Amino acid sequence: MKRIVFTALAALVVVALATLGRVYLTGNHDGSSGSVSLGGPFTLTDHAGREVTDETYRGQYMLIYFGYTFCPDVCPTSLSTMALALDELSEEELAKVQPIFISVDPERDTIEALADYVPNFHDKMIGMTGTPEQVKAVARAYKAYYAKTNEDDGDGNYLVDHSSITYLMGPDGKYAAHFGHGTPPETMGKRLGEIL
Ligand code: NI
Repeated sequence: MKRIVFTALAALVVVALATLGRVYLTGNHDGSSGSVSLGGPFTLTDHAGREVTDETYRGQYMLIYFGYTFCPDVCPTSLSTMALALDELSEEELAKVQPIFISVDPERDTIEALADYVPNFHDKMIGMTGTPEQVKAVARAYKAYYAKTNEDDGDGNYLVDHSSITYLMGPDGKYAAHFGHGTPPETMGKRLGEIL
């Protein structure tokens, strides 16, 4: 009996790893499409202080990136890439997609901090934050990783290590494509244009 349970567990682990592998490894730099189980319900607060959920933008594509405003390099690069890719779209295509930046540093990323930050990248971009529990839940749904790398030195200075994948979710809220860090803006823009 124990052996059957063990075998079932092992099979589950294999399936989970295979799913993760697909998400992280498939077409990392060209935005692959597929039926990956990613995303799901979330409740957060946007940079205007409004409550937002996974249903707020139903009917539109969501282009989502997880990061934090204190990030020295990776986030600014990724968000600039996203903005440049959006600039490649026609007005009609742009109208179909909502760019979203979700903070993985809810302690420091207040609504005000996000409101100061996201418009620097794109007019249409919306920043979202929440309670540590809400952020943990949305990151888990998107299989996004984040962790503080060093303890707060007393001045509120610490870094947050985080995954740097840009997710495109369809109008139905389901996974449509993703882009790895380092995807050139033209590549992302072209792929978005094909999908939208
Ligand atoms: Ni970052």
